Amino acid sequence: MDWGLENRLKRIIRPETGRVVMLAVDHGYFLGPITRLEDPRSTIAPLLPHADALMLTRGVLRACVDPGTDTPMVLRVSGGRSILAGEDLSDEGIAVAMEDAVRLNASAVALSIFVGTRHERQTLLGLSRLVDRGQELGMPVLAVTAVGKELEKRDARYLALACRMAAEFGAHFVKTYYCEDFEKVSGSCPVPLVIAGGPKLETEMDVFRMARDALDRGAVGVDMGRNIWQNDHAKAMIRAVRAVVHEGATPERAGEIFEAGKAGAR
Ligand code: 5RP
Repeated sequence: MDWGLENRLKRIIRPETGRVVMLAVDHGYFLGPITRLEDPRSTIAPLLPHADALMLTRGVLRACVDPGTDTPMVLRVSGGRSILAGEDLSDEGIAVAMEDAVRLNASAVALSIFVGTRHERQTLLGLSRLVDRGQELGMPVLAVTAVGKELEKRDARYLALACRMAAEFGAHFVKTYYCEDFEKVSGSCPVPLVIAGGPKLETEMDVFRMARDALDRGAVGVDMGRNIWQNDHAKAMIRAVRAVVHEGATPERAGEIFEAGKAGAR
């Protein structure tokens, strides 16, 4: 790995622990103003100091994030369809030039691949092109194994295939979903894996358990959105998730940290 690319990646996956808490706020690129992300600036600002990296689009980065921040940015560069596109949701392309990612001082770029859909070829070849440009310019590429509305696809067999393909096409790290037998996914993916949180779970403990299990089974961290900022106590939530990821906290300990954070205790 060239120095610049490795340096960018190490700004995201923290060398002290080898782990990462990424905060995902890129949902508007196909969902529009979803709940609690209507005003991205007010959602992002209080959480930014607690995130190792922020995943977002260039529009929100330019309009809503203070350029004085030290937090590394992971720029979503794929898109092209909205939630209204039904089964065509997978019809994504690369929507941002790599030069703009460099101009924005991004630490990585992210693109979704839709394995098993009729657009798998275009999204996989898009990943290849992005990796080619990333190698030229020292920019790491995060591949997101998107499942669209087909949540039933989130089993280990499918996700292991999609994650492995992302790595084979050259992604430097991969974002996927947590599933049963997650070790089968992580064990066959030769690059670091982070998990998305997915739709908001019923309780905070469900989130802490999912994060703990994913880390124990080979993930290097989380790239979580709704389960953090759709919580009424988002700051307490991200601090508790950090304890799981960076300090090896159990779900029970994370629960205590969350409750203390809610009460305003340090
Ligand atoms: C959308 C994404 C989101 O960033 C991702 O789903 C993470 O957010 P959440 O934890 O809310 O699922 O990549 O394709």
